[in-house]
Amino acid sequence: MADLTKLFYPNAIAVVGASRQPGKIGYTIVKNLKEFGFQGRIYPVNPNANEILGLKCYPSVSSIPEPVDVVVVSVPAQKVLDVIDDAGKAGAKFAVVIASGFKEVGNVELEEELVRRAHKYGMRVLGPNIFGYVYTPSKINATFGPRDVIPGNVAFISQSGALGIALMGMTILEGIGISAIISIGNKSDLDDADFLEFFAEDPNTSVVLIYMEGAKDGKRFIEAAAKTTLKKPVIAIKAGRTEVGARAAASHTGSLAGNVAIYEAAFKQAGVLMARSVEEAFDWVKALSWNPLPEGENLVVITNGGGAGVQTTDTLADNGIYLKEPPKYLVEEVKKFVPPFASLANPIDITGMAPVDWYYKAVYAALKDPEVHSIIVLYCHTAITHPVDVAKAIIDAVKDAGVRKPMTVSLIGGKEAYEGIQLLTKERIPAYPTPERAASAMAAIYKYLKARKYVEERLKS
Ligand code: ACO
Repeated sequence: MADLTKLFYPNAIAVVGASRQPGKIGYTIVKNLKEFGFQGRIYPVNPNANEILGLKCYPSVSSIPEPVDVVVVSVPAQKVLDVIDDAGKAGAKFAVVIASGFKEVGNVELEEELVRRAHKYGMRVLGPNIFGYVYTPSKINATFGPRDVIPGNVAFISQSGALGIALMGMTILEGIGISAIISIGNKSDLDDADFLEFFAEDPNTSVVLIYMEGAKDGKRFIEAAAKTTLKKPVIAIKAGRTEVGARAAASHTGSLAGNVAIYEAAFKQAGVLMARSVEEAFDWVKALSWNPLPEGENLVVITNGGGAGVQTTDTLADNGIYLKEPPKYLVEEVKKFVPPFASLANPIDITGMAPVDWYYKAVYAALKDPEVHSIIVLYCHTAITHPVDVAKAIIDAVKDAGVRKPMTVSLIGGKEAYEGIQLLTKERIPAYPTPERAASAMAAIYKYLKARKYVEERLKS
């Protein structure tokens, strides 16, 4: 198991190729590191500069007055080996190699030599062909991506650089809190398995998301992912699911994306939840990182519209989840305020005439009923209520009940529904614009429980 402690908790970070020019990668990495608030020392390295962003510049890593733990390498590929020699001699422990121009364009030997040299000095390599890494507990943003990622409990490992950097921005938009973002690119040395082993034990991480094109060592990946699954969910977006997609992946990071059936089998062994799209993965990440795990299978759906309830029931059934009769206490409570024509099966239809306080009362009662283990709340925008008020009612019910149970919400409608979704997001209640997405996200929670059980039993036998 690789010891990644000093990568995530370094005393000092050097940026080789720190540029004086705004807009260049080496400049942006220093800026992000400084402005995101890294508390250790930051050493820009550039033989042609005295100072960058108010920080004293050094001509080489070996001229820095103390040993640095991490060296971010942002000079062109042909200069990287010299930097590795210099940093290695100076005692650096990790080289984070940003530069492209290695295996992904056929320069296999250069990449192999990079790893050989680094290992000669006991140094591990992240990259090359990456956008850097983030670890919010140490306030590290050593990337040229967006600066202000939201601190939180999701670790994101991305094999793709450009997509990874874009998704980094999307986490901010979607309100997803991040513990770590790792761009692993060509995985010349450290790979998904090494990081999974770290995140499995990391108390700051409760969900791991991987964008993966191909695994370097399938068996090791399965074992590392399985061990992680025992402690926290692992979600993977597997790129190159189709034959043409696999060919595209080969020319991107040089990965063998492989046959999708092989990956499906491997992910099953490891308990990894396979998402088909970025949207689906983000939906699941929210549901799994913002909710506790359910204590049982009694899932209750509350809706003001039959159609939304049916769509939800269908999506749940697609995922092997079948709704049971709602518990008695909840039914008795809801009966007190709904009209006689309301359906009190599951989904519980509080009817299209439901005012905001019916949502409050129904959600409150569901949270208070010990026989309810998880809740999906659906709201179709009607002109008699405003979605923002419905969102507030749900938030108030959660606060007043003083209980958190797995919950996903769908506010279905136009612009106002979107405002309500944003309000719920701020309170870390996962909310979606369609009932299918709310149902799929809830199903992901139950899929995780099943996957964990499967892995537990597999590892026992
Ligand atoms: N040590 C330290 N600094 C040096 C050295 C050296 N040996 N040699 C040169 N420098 C300085 C340069 O003077 C320059 O500083 P200046 O701008 O103040 O003059 C700085 O280091 C950078 O060197 P450049 O030669 O200008 O390199 P440039 O910044 O143009 O490119 C880079 C370097 C970014 C690594 C480039 O070669 C590269 O690979 N780009 C692609 C990165 C990438 O896409 N990564 C993959 C995934 S991310 C994604 O896809 C979005």
